[in-house]
Amino acid sequence: MQIETAVIHAGIQEDPLTGAVIPPIYQTSTYHQAELGGHVKYEYTRGENPTRFAVEAVMATLEHGTAGFAFSSGMTAIHAVLTLLHSGDHLIIGTDVYGGTFRLVNRILSNLGITATAVDTNNPHAVQEAIQPNTKMLYLETPSNPLLHVTDIPQAAKIAHQAQMIVAVDNTFASPINQTPLDLGADIVLHSGTKYLGGHSDLISGFVVTKDSGLTEQIKFIQMSIGGVLSPQDSYLLQRSLKTLALRVERHNSNANRLAEYLNNHQKIAKVYYPGLINSPDHQIAQAQMNGFGGMLSLELVTGLDTKTFVESMRLFTLAESLGGVESLIEVPAVMTHASIPRSVRLENGISDELVRVSVGIESIDDLLEDMQQALAQL
Ligand SMILES: Cc1ncc(COP(=O)(O)O)c(C=O)c1O
Repeated sequence: MQIETAVIHAGIQEDPLTGAVIPPIYQTSTYHQAELGGHVKYEYTRGENPTRFAVEAVMATLEHGTAGFAFSSGMTAIHAVLTLLHSGDHLIIGTDVYGGTFRLVNRILSNLGITATAVDTNNPHAVQEAIQPNTKMLYLETPSNPLLHVTDIPQAAKIAHQAQMIVAVDNTFASPINQTPLDLGADIVLHSGTKYLGGHSDLISGFVVTKDSGLTEQIKFIQMSIGGVLSPQDSYLLQRSLKTLALRVERHNSNANRLAEYLNNHQKIAKVYYPGLINSPDHQIAQAQMNGFGGMLSLELVTGLDTKTFVESMRLFTLAESLGGVESLIEVPAVMTHASIPRSVRLENGISDELVRVSVGIESIDDLLEDMQQALAQL
């Protein structure tokens, strides 16, 4: 089944009670037991809920896995995956990851005896050198947030698997329409479902998809034990959103491509970070492992031009955190999404104070270009 069909049909079974075509919202916390210890089918919604199961099944199909797990946020999903690690374990993580992931690893997991080394995950020597006897996981984002760097997943997975490590890939920026990491060697795929999967900036959610039965059992146990599951209402909303994922991402891709080209040729722009640009150092790998280059790009103005004036001059691009919604957003990672990373670490990792990140929406590209043009003209 092609992914454009899967987003609409996967995981959907007619409701056995009524024949409803759309899975009903089972807004219940618990289920009746016909006799003591003998529940009819389900026991308690933290463990089992048909509305959540429906969206989990769609995500498992879209990511080419065998099991999907829906969480109340991307961070809860990431936390569940990192809970596979135990005290004394070590993980290797990309230098360019979402600020919240950095914070979780460096300020929460570190207190639990789990250590981490941050490296450029696309540098095989750096990954190899960071491996310690207790290294259990390679965690990467590709394309990364906010520099849109691409990691060669098969290459990184090969190195990690030789050392018996689990490979987890945050696929939020690509979405399963543009990239399916499990096909490229990853063991676990993660999402902030808040972004492209939800697509309308109206819910917070997260996903984990697995294919190996051992990891599936472990994540299932962690999800049920720690909680943080997606509610029935939000499961329904998310599942509704997924039906248009392929259509939306197609437009995100083409709009971002057009905007990146425009910015790349603009004299007031010093640098554009977008793997779809032929002159991007990430282009070749992206072309090899992605079906589209995504709707995210970052840029730097030429020295001397004021970033604050630029982002505040936008009319259509809303100055806001988050990404992946139908509406275009713009932000400055240093003071917004990545503010939790110490400045020295941020600068070392190439995230300058002036970097601007753009989530290109699905509006008319003519209107988006016009807005960008008028904002640049004000500088
Ligand atoms: C790449 C990436 N992963 C994970 C997250 C965290 O997701 P959430 O905000 O849904 O908890 C974000 C949030 O911006 C993100 O950009």
